[in-house]
This record gives sequence, structure tokens and C-alpha cells, in this order.
Amino acid sequence: MKLNSLKLSNFRNYERLELKFNDALNIIYGSNGVGKTNLVEAIYLLAITKSFRTNNDKNLIKDGEVSTKIEGEVETNTTNDYEVVINKEGKKVKIDKDIISKLSDYITNINVVVLQPNEQVLFEESPSERRKLLNVEICGIKKEYLIYLNNYNKLLKQRNFYLRELYINGNASYDYLDIITKKLIDYGKKIYDYRKKFIDDINEYISIKYKNVFENGELAIKYNSDYNKSEDEIFNNYKKNYNKEITIGKTLYGIHHDDIVFLLDNKDINNRGSNGQKKNAIFAFKLALIELIYNEKGSYPILILDDLFSALDNKKITNIFKLLSDNIQTFITTTDLDKIDNTLIEKAKVLKVIDSGVLEE
Ligand SMILES: Nc1ncnc2c1ncn2[C@@H]1O[C@H](COP(=O)(O)OP(=O)(O)OP(=O)(O)O)[C@@H](O)[C@H]1O
Ligand SMILES: [Mg+2]
Repeated sequence: MKLNSLKLSNFRNYERLELKFNDALNIIYGSNGVGKTNLVEAIYLLAITKSFRTNNDKNLIKDGEVSTKIEGEVETNTTNDYEVVINKEGKKVKIDKDIISKLSDYITNINVVVLQPNEQVLFEESPSERRKLLNVEICGIKKEYLIYLNNYNKLLKQRNFYLRELYINGNASYDYLDIITKKLIDYGKKIYDYRKKFIDDINEYISIKYKNVFENGELAIKYNSDYNKSEDEIFNNYKKNYNKEITIGKTLYGIHHDDIVFLLDNKDINNRGSNGQKKNAIFAFKLALIELIYNEKGSYPILILDDLFSALDNKKITNIFKLLSDNIQTFITTTDLDKIDNTLIEKAKVLKVIDSGVLEE
């Protein structure tokens, strides 16, 4: 996958910007605060339609403006023009000027993997952030996943509503609760299967990547889910707890409680690992993800390395570069060009950012 060009209108600190990129390496450099991360954030947004650093799309619109537009020409199996527009009403996406109404038809086309300096915060966040990571990555490779996920979430809302109904109205039917519970298990099991397969596939690579780039140790991801059982067992568990759920008015079990744990030498890295080890574990996950996407899609994702020099020592960065092939279009941001090897700079497109404008060198 290759991003040939990018056009921004009123995105973050950029009023207007048009850029063309190199197929292999692109280096974006400039002082702190000039807009380097904003630029790669726009690339991510063009692919995923979400930012990697804010959940509030309003932040993406340039101060004082009412909308932002990100456009880019992307080569996958074919070459197409992608477009994301964000305004007060929400978000619209287009491919070759056609409005795409189903998000799942848009977000599975372009895959982008980002490595950021503060990845270890994922361990401090709630399980929902880790589920979001799974969801975003699986959506990027399996078109139908988002549809199943939406079905599950819709049904979950209905079930919660009905639990409250049962609390208020003692005569309401338990048979109906059985029916929606079975249906929830049906949808949830599908999500479980996708997540399980994704984690199994990541585990094929993650330990090797960790050892190659960072340090010795066996790294693996463990998937914790209420649905790691037969459908009968799951159903019986619900039945046993109907009264508890009715009292609370919430579905207490299901894939909306899933979580993942990173194990380093079989121990939970969150409780035992250093900050550096935690960060490296996420980086190893992302490097494994690159391979997985290649296997699924037959081409490598676009890779963004945001400010890696502030996160890793030179030896580890050299190790990462060694793993990358020329077939991976890569965007690197840095404040300090001197930190990058001359042989890399020679074959790269170097873009210098000066306060909301970009100078090509
Ligand atoms: N919605 C917005 N409108 C206008 N400016 C914005 C908006 N959002 C962020 N900015 C500005 O963008 C700048 C930050 O850009 P960015 O994070 O890309 O910097 P950077 O070059 O990556 O810096 P660093 O080297 O410190 O990581 C800040 O000056 C911030 O005020
Ligand atoms: Mg930055």
C-alpha cells in the first residue's frame, strides 16, 4: 500500500497543504510543535477515519474553522482517491468522489500501523481501550467484523433495556430473555472467534519480533473472555445470574468485557514489567501486526514511526530499520535529522516542516 499524495484543508495547524510522497521512505523533520505529528495523524485518519491521539474529532478542525478535509491518492490493488470530511454534523467519507455510507466498506481498504513514543499508556487505560485496539485492527483486515460488532452492540442495548423492563414489570417474560440471550451469544461468539484468531496469529510473530528488536524473553498475548467456553456453558452462566443482571439492569457477561494481557516470560507485563518493557511489548505487537496484514492483504501496510528517537535508543531503532523492507512505505518524524543514518536519508524524501508549511528538500 502506498500513499502517493496528500491534501489537507484546515486540518489542525494546517490551512492548506499538498504533498507528494516517496514509495519507500519519507522523513518529516522540524522543531517541536511545528506540526509533524499532525501530518502523520492526517495520514492515519485518511485510512482509519479516526485519530490515534484524540477521540474528539473537533480537535482536528483548525481553530476558528468549521470543517476539515483530508484527501489522498492511495495505491492498493488499484489506485483510488480517498477523502474524509469532518464538520459539526459528523464525518463523511468518499472513494473516487462517491459517498461511502457503510464505514466497513471504507476502513478495510488502507492499512496503517503507527508506532508512537508513549505506547505504554495502553496498560494504564481501561479494558475498553484495549478492546478498541483489537477492534480497529480486526476491522482493518476483516470487512464483516464491524457488521457483527454493530449487531452485538445493538442487541446488547436491547437486552439491557429488557433487563430493566423485567425489574419494573415482574410479569414480563423470561422466555424472551432466553431468546435474546441466545442471540447475544450467537453474535458474541462470532466476535470471540475473530478476536481469538487475531490474537493467535499475532502470537505467531510477536515473540520473534520482541527478541529481534528489543531483548530476550518470551512475549505473548493472552485473551481473556467470558466467551472462552461452549455456547451451552455460556448460556448456563447467564441463566445462573439472571437475577443479578435484572437487579443491576446490565448485561454482566459477554465480549464487551474482553481484555488482553501481555505476558513476558509468562508473567503479566503490566504488574511486573518496566516502562521500557511495556513500550517494547506494544512495539513488538505492532511489528507483528505488519506481518499479519501482509499475510491477509498481500501487501504491507503504510508504517508511521512518530518520534521514535525520543522513545528508543539507537541500537533498537537500527534493529527496527533492519526489519523493514523497501516494500513498506514508511513515514518517520523527528526533530533531529542527525539521528538518521545517511544511507537512509539519501534514498528518502525529506520534508522539512516550518510552522504549518512544509518545505521539501
Ligand atoms: N485544531 C487545531 N487548530 C490549530 N492548531 C492546532 C490544532 N490542534 C493542534 N494544533 C497545533 O499543532 C501544534 C502541535 O503539532 P504537532 O503535535 O504535530 O507537533 P510536532 O511537530 O509533532 O511536535 P513534537 O516534536 O513536540 O512532537 C501545536 O502548536 C498546536 O497548537
Ligand atoms: Mg510530535
